[in-house]
Formats: sequence, C-alpha cells, structure tokens
Amino acid sequence: MNIDDIKREFPIFDDKIQNNDLVYLDSANSSQKPRVVVDRIYDFYTKEFSNVGRSVHYLAVAATNLYEQTRVSVQKYINAKDKDEIVFTKGATEAINLVANTFGQKYLSEGDEVLLTELEHHSNYVPWHFLRKAKNIKIEFAEINDNGEVTLEAIEKKITNKTKIISVSHLSNVTGAILPIKEIVQLAHSKNIPVLIDGCQGAPHLKLDMQDIDCDFYAISGHKMYGPTGIGILYAKKKWLEDLPPYQGGGGMINEVKKEGITYGELPNKYEAGTMATAQVIAFNESIKFMEKIGIQNIEKHEKELLDYGLEKLRKNNSVNIIGNPKEKGGVISFTIEGVHPHDIATILDEDGVAIRAGHHCCQILHDKLNLPATARASFGVYNTKDDIDKLDESINKCKKIFNLKWT
Ligand code: ALA
Repeated sequence: MNIDDIKREFPIFDDKIQNNDLVYLDSANSSQKPRVVVDRIYDFYTKEFSNVGRSVHYLAVAATNLYEQTRVSVQKYINAKDKDEIVFTKGATEAINLVANTFGQKYLSEGDEVLLTELEHHSNYVPWHFLRKAKNIKIEFAEINDNGEVTLEAIEKKITNKTKIISVSHLSNVTGAILPIKEIVQLAHSKNIPVLIDGCQGAPHLKLDMQDIDCDFYAISGHKMYGPTGIGILYAKKKWLEDLPPYQGGGGMINEVKKEGITYGELPNKYEAGTMATAQVIAFNESIKFMEKIGIQNIEKHEKELLDYGLEKLRKNNSVNIIGNPKEKGGVISFTIEGVHPHDIATILDEDGVAIRAGHHCCQILHDKLNLPATARASFGVYNTKDDIDKLDESINKCKKIFNLKWT
C-alpha cells in the first residue's frame, strides 16, 4: 500500500497547522478522518436527511436502509453471527456502561466480584465503580508484569468463585500490550464467566473475528476507527441482548406502551432509545469501507513496521525511557524524559507540529502502579510514516537542548 496516497485521503494533512506540516501521533486518542467520511456526513445532511425507524416517507425509509446497512457492514467486518448482535451507542464508553448497568442490575449482588486489569482506561473502570457503590460488589484487578503486560496467569490468579464477569482491554493505550483475549475467554468460559473486551484500541488496529474470539461483549469506538465522533458499537451475543434488561428508555426501543405497562422492541431496537446519531452511523459505513479497502492485515503490518522503527529510534535516543516492553504490542509508544514533565515535552513537540498526548491517558490506576504521574505518548495510525518518527525524534532532541539536559 502507498502511504502517501492514503495520507492524501485525509484533508487535515492538506494544510499547515501553525505553519508546520502536521505530524499526527495521537491516534490512540482519536484518529483523523478521511474525506469519504466527512463528505458522507455533509451529503447525508444536505441531500438525504431524515430520522430513521419511524416515518414511512421516502427520505425516512431511505435513511433507515442506510442506517441498517452500516449494521450489516459492521457485522461482516467483525464476523458477528447475526446483525442483531450489533448495537449502536454513542461511543465505546456508552457500550461498556450499557453492559455494566444491565448485567449489574440482573446478575450482580453484594460481595460479587468483577475482574478488570491494572491496564484499563477509565471507561472500563468507572462504570464498574458505579456498581461497586450501588451494589457493594468488589472490583479485582489482574496485575501487570514488568513488561507492562497482563498474562493469562495473572487473570487466572484473580478468578474466584465470586467472579461474575471479566472485563479487559484488547490492547493497552499506554504500554501497547495486546492481551491474550481468546485464551482469557476460553479460561473464563470454562468457569461459566462471561467476558467483555474493551476494543477501543484493538478494533482500529487488529483483525476482529467475534465468532473466533467468542467473547460475550466487545466495545468499539467509532472515532478511533477513522469514523465520526458520537458513534460506538456494542457487539453482544444475542443470548445476552435477549436476556438483559434495556439500558435507556424512550422512543424507538419499545413495542407497546400502555398506562399499565410497556413491552420492549425486538433486537437491536431494545437497546437504541431515542433518535440515534444517524449521520454518524451512516458515515461510519465509509470508515469500514475505507479500512476494508486497505485491508486490516496491511494496516497491522504497516503499524508494526512503524512501531519497530520507532522503538529502535527512540531506544537509541538516550534521553527517552520507554514504558513497558510487551511481547505482543500495538502502535503505541509511551515514554518519559528524566527532568522534563510530559506536558512540557508535548508542548515543545507541538511547536514543531508533532501532536502527541501527555498525561495519564485516562489510566490513573496504571500510572499509580508505574509510580509516574504522567507519561508522553506517541500513537500511530495508517497515515503515519517513518518520516513522522524521525520528526518526533528530532523534536525530542530539541526538548533535551531547551532543558539543557545532558545524556551520554
Ligand atoms: N482516548 C484515550 C486515549 O487517549 C483513552 O487513549
């Protein structure tokens, strides 16, 4: 694949940002958007707009069909068995809240345990914390090892006869560790424990096959997959969507509404209350097509090459301490520079157009464990090049000079 051609599909790279060519290394936070996605939103609002699933006029039926086409595209992309296993949400955060809330209501009571890992970002901790408050459940954390990984053994160690659900990241947004999710699911299922995978970082970068992974739930963030903000996906096995109560109430998710009671809609409507993010869902189909056109294997290969190049380059730069060294790692390099606060690193890099993230990356528990208040992080997308990494390295050296730091 030709990265220059791919990069040209992203309008953000057409213009200078503060007089610099943009070196965008913040895709773990949110990816940039290809023109096809932006255009689709514009076209939908200007030529095709209607609410979906309600009226019978031409525009409403056409919009409903487009909306449902995205559901089928997602189903195929992640190899789910049934299109009704795809629920649109406003983001991965809402997808995880949906599971925590509905599963918690039905299956968790005082003393029960939810097993997370120390790698989780806040979206996969705070919803469970709400349950801890409301229902007096316990949250256990499988520990990271010195490489910044969570092994199957670390998960196994924390499973007890009180464990009612396991909820883990596919790929860490800080150390880049790719968790052995298939093995975790097998282990959990052998003990009748369902598993939610937080796929915020997995879905944009790794091949997904729900039937092969066999997880019960998988949460996806649209805006990290070259899609619009305001769109997420909850994949859930049909048995769970049939079994669990609805999450939010309102129009669209009901069947019959009477003064004396309500019956709920068929799947997946039961979980899609109110007017949904219609334009975003429809435009997300273009993100899927964009990724399919390149091919996820090619995306993985490209990002792995960038990662290997970046790690080698930054390891040679004696000023940089790289956080974690997982065997299976995605395109994320978190680092610190002794004597320079990560926010200062990010600010100095920004002067050169190098956009990274600094802070706790919504992972305060992990940073506490690492005994670091913050880290700087470069994260890759399909549009990045080795040249971007060279610029990152150059800017880091500038940073070192500004702080007048001397490394051998
Ligand atoms: N959006 C968050 C990140 O930057 C979680 O990784």
